[in-house]
Parts: sequence; structure tokens; C-alpha cells
Amino acid sequence: MCEARQPMSASPPETAPEVSQALDDLRCLEMEGRAAFEAAATPEAVEAARVDFLGMKSGRLKSAQARLKELNPAGKRIYGQAFNETKAALEQAHEAARLRVSSQRGVASRLDVTLPGTAPRLGHRHPLTQTIEELIDLFARFGFSLALGPEVEDVFHNFEALNIPETHPARDPSDNFYLNTGALLRSQTSTVQIRVMEAQRPPVRIISLGRVYRPDEMDQTHSFMFHQIEGLMVDRGVTMADLKTVLRMFCSAYLGEEVTIRFRPSFFPFTEPSVEVDMKWIGGDHWVEMGGAGMVDPNVLRAVGYDPEQVTGFAFGLGIERLCMRRHQIDDIRLFYQNDARFLRQF
Ligand code: PHE
Repeated sequence: MCEARQPMSASPPETAPEVSQALDDLRCLEMEGRAAFEAAATPEAVEAARVDFLGMKSGRLKSAQARLKELNPAGKRIYGQAFNETKAALEQAHEAARLRVSSQRGVASRLDVTLPGTAPRLGHRHPLTQTIEELIDLFARFGFSLALGPEVEDVFHNFEALNIPETHPARDPSDNFYLNTGALLRSQTSTVQIRVMEAQRPPVRIISLGRVYRPDEMDQTHSFMFHQIEGLMVDRGVTMADLKTVLRMFCSAYLGEEVTIRFRPSFFPFTEPSVEVDMKWIGGDHWVEMGGAGMVDPNVLRAVGYDPEQVTGFAFGLGIERLCMRRHQIDDIRLFYQNDARFLRQF
């Protein structure tokens, strides 16, 4: 079975027969061991071959080592050296086999399907964007379509057409972001009322949403940039009762609560009468100001070519941040703009 059982010429001629025999057996052992490690195709087979040949207790190499003491000193020296070479060769064969089967099994052997997975970190839309999309959706169900206007606006749409004369304090440079061109960053979304009415005949039922800019100091409730939702409905026979109903239905729908609306007399150049819109929630103990509203001023209707004798309309403008803050119990408007993932992750 092993060719090395034949006396081998490799043994020096003067070697004693028992030493030659031991050396032959050792070579035989080495060949069988190498073959076993090469044939092993799985980690289990490699381990079995290791126990068989290199095992510390009853491995075949261990038995080969035991033969040392049967030999005379000269034989010990020759055999001892051969033994060390065989041992090194088999250890090397074992290591090579071990590497081979583990790299073959590669990923499969390192894949533990019972480990919990690593969930990819998914982002989501900003809470204000979520609110905007929800508002668009809600008002669509009330029959309001979406109209958008530019953030860089001209004086005509931001003021003049809205019945805000040159002398009005709202046009003061310290209250607006004027550009060198004479245009400005719009200070309200009411600009879109004008743009829509210029472009279409009544009936009109639109909302508009977007950023507005005012040079306010940043604090817990103010920002130089914030978002408004504007609503405009113009048709025959529209009244303030319609305004109140739409606002109340909308707020209940968005906040999922019973809401009471209060109108406080106010003034806006483009509505008459004008009101501040306050809301109170069931269980709430105070009124929260949400924005302004009113019946579209006949001057504004006339300026866009509508006949105030034929149609009437309401308009409102609410702060989107306020709504979102109320909905999620957020107490500082600045959190919306800081992009702190610890805050944003919560929505
Ligand atoms: N544009 C007004 C504001 O920004 C709000 C408003 C809108 C008032 C529509 C009346 C009608 O304060």
C-alpha cells in the first residue's frame, strides 16, 4: 500500500536495519498524511485527518515519535532529524488543507442566517414637507386645487394688486428682503391669489403653499423664512360662513381633533372684513393664533377684472410651521431648519 515499505536507497548504506525500517515507516507516514490532507474536502475531513496524523494523544506521528527510544544514539540522531522534517511537512499540509476548505466555503461558512440583519437606514421626508403634502391632499378633497407662485416676486403682486399702497408700513425696506432689481422675496403667499385670478375666471378654489420671507429675529416662534398656506375661493354667494366652515373642517381633519374657530376683527388691505383666525382644541385652555383671513376686498376683485357685484370670495393665510408644531407638540420653530437628524428621525 505504501511504496516506502520497500527499503529505500535514501537511507545511508551503513544505517542499522531497525533505523532504516523506522525511516521507511516515517516516509510512508508522511506520504499517507499528505494524501489524506490533500483529499480532505471539508473542514470536518481536514479535522479528522489532523486527529489521525497529528493528534496529540494517539496520532500516528505521536507513535512514530515513540520509536525514538528504541534506537541507538546514532539512529536517534538520524531518525530524530527525519521525524522533525516529517512533522513539519504534515503540519504544513494540514495548514494548507485548512485554508483550502475554509476559503472554498468562504462566505457560506461565515454566513450565519440566524443572526439579526442590519437594517438599512432609510431616510424620510422632512416634517414640513410631510405637512405640506398632507395639506394639499386634504384641500384636494374639499375641491381646492394647487397653485404655486414665485418666491422672488415683484412689487405689483406682493403689494399693489393686494391694495397695499406705497405708503403702507408693510412695504418698509426694514420689513422686507428687497433685491437690487427692485423685486423682493415674497413676504406672503397672498401674491398667488393675484396670479391665479389674473389667469382664470371665477369660480376659483385654490390653495397655495410655500416659503415666505420677513427680516424677523430668529426665536422660538419666529424665523426670517417660514411657510404659509394660502386659500382662495371666489364664486357667486361665497360668505364668511363658508370660510369658517372650511377652516374648521380642515383643522379637524389635519389635527384629528375637535377644533373651535374664533374670528377676531383685524385689518388686511386685501380683505374686508378681515379677521385673525384663532383655534382652540377640545380640552385646550387657550386660543392659538393660526393666521389671517377675510372676504376678498372688492378693490382686489376689480383689479383682476372680476365683478364684485357678481362674485364674492374669501381668502386665508395660515402658518404651516404652526400647524405642524401643534400636530407634533414641537415647541421651537428653529428645530425645523437645523437638520439635526435626532430631531428629524422622530417624524
Ligand atoms: N397674507 C396675510 C399674512 O401673511 C394673511 C392673510 C391671507 C390675510 C389671506 C387675509 C387673507 O399675514
